[in-house]
Amino acid sequence: MTDKNELAQIGVVGLAVMGSNLARNFARNGNTVAVYNRSPEKTHALIEAHGEEGNFVPSETIEDFVASLERPRKAIIMVKAGKATDAVIDQLAEAMDDGDIIIDGGNALFTDTIRREKDVAARGKHFVGAGISGGEEGALNGPAIMPGGPKESWETLGPILESIAANVDGTPCVTHIGADGAGHFVKMVHNGIEYADMQVIGEAYQLLRYGAGMEPAEIAEVFHEWNSGDLDSYLIEITAEVLAQKDPETGAPLVDIIVDAAGQKGTGRWTAINGLELGVPITGIAESVFARALSSSTAQRSAAQEGQLPAGTIKALDVDKAEFIEDVRRALYAAKLIAYSQGFDEIKAGSEEFGWDVDPRDLATIWRGGCIIRAKFLDRIRAAYDNNADLPALILDPYFKGELEDLIDPWRRVVVAATQLGLPAPVFASSLSYYDSLRAERLPAALIQGQRDFFGAHTFKRTDKPGTFHIEWSGDRSLTQTD
Ligand code: 6PG
Repeated sequence: MTDKNELAQIGVVGLAVMGSNLARNFARNGNTVAVYNRSPEKTHALIEAHGEEGNFVPSETIEDFVASLERPRKAIIMVKAGKATDAVIDQLAEAMDDGDIIIDGGNALFTDTIRREKDVAARGKHFVGAGISGGEEGALNGPAIMPGGPKESWETLGPILESIAANVDGTPCVTHIGADGAGHFVKMVHNGIEYADMQVIGEAYQLLRYGAGMEPAEIAEVFHEWNSGDLDSYLIEITAEVLAQKDPETGAPLVDIIVDAAGQKGTGRWTAINGLELGVPITGIAESVFARALSSSTAQRSAAQEGQLPAGTIKALDVDKAEFIEDVRRALYAAKLIAYSQGFDEIKAGSEEFGWDVDPRDLATIWRGGCIIRAKFLDRIRAAYDNNADLPALILDPYFKGELEDLIDPWRRVVVAATQLGLPAPVFASSLSYYDSLRAERLPAALIQGQRDFFGAHTFKRTDKPGTFHIEWSGDRSLTQTD
């Protein structure tokens, strides 16, 4: 239904699949929605195909679109992240009045969001960068939404976003995350965790396929079963579906037909870059970004495959198949725990750096539904932060510590097996090293400090007394205190 005289509670600019699904979701949940797309064909197509789902107010110019919104006006931009976003923000800010709210629902880089928020605020309007997760299906039926921006915008915007968000046990999967870029920052880290989660699932598959010699359909069954235990999650669920799928043309397992070069649009890479900038060891996330890059290094991979890089003496797997499958499940769970723990570390560091005061419990709550990394164990994560909001690391929570005690032996066995078989398991292995590094009494960093002092007089601290010291390496090797 469309009514040009009715004012809309919310507007959507950009009606590609995500935008039109979001607009339909608003309409289906009782909101009158203004819709606008640069080329009007998409607007017409939306109204024609779905106009009966609720109240839509279509416009062909941005000015009409703005005029069709009730005040304070609220418009969500769903265009391709980057220059297009800036152009639409500019048009909206021009046509809107003071106090109106512009929301960017794309995957924007949080530093762009901080910049845009400043610019828009200087023009008297509010700007909210909102991470929206759940893909096309989520946009239509209930995504997880991570809005940043000024708290007062949330007062107006909150109820409308709650009306379309996913809902778990009566709690909508949306909350105000923090000022300016906080929402997009948190969405970025969500995607970093998503990359790691997908990679560890991939490593488990690889081990079952080429270590245990199982066929995709059989592995699909295994994943299906795993989805009812600790690993219960959307990504495990869809993995079972993808592995069970046959190629419609050849009848072969689809996974064997798909080129094994993983793409990326950049949010995982941003998470890794930001981890480096903040000095947070998000090894699992960074390794999963590198794993995608390596998979797409086609020229190097084919040169290496053409017999140039020897494999060494590969030992055949000599374990009971059922035990191996269970070990792989546990290794997957352990590596996944590390990825989430590291992601939460990055959010804590980012929140401190940018003064956002992000509450990790909020994320554990809203990520339980709608988003790509939704998983049953987020309830456990929430409980962990409920018990101690200042946990030094998620894996130090008593429950997860206990879980890791059970997981550690199988995890080591799997990393050893992967190494012996010559099968890559970069996130399984590097996450185990991270775990062992954290718990190590002494790290070789002491030696690195010695080397730095040797070649660059970079000084070092002593274990036995305070102060900063240097050895006269090129002289008499005496000790001097520099501070
Ligand atoms: C989501 C997804 C979504 C998208 C990402 C990842 O939360 O709904 O993360 O935002 O899938 O852009 O895409 P790439 O794998 O292409 O980086």
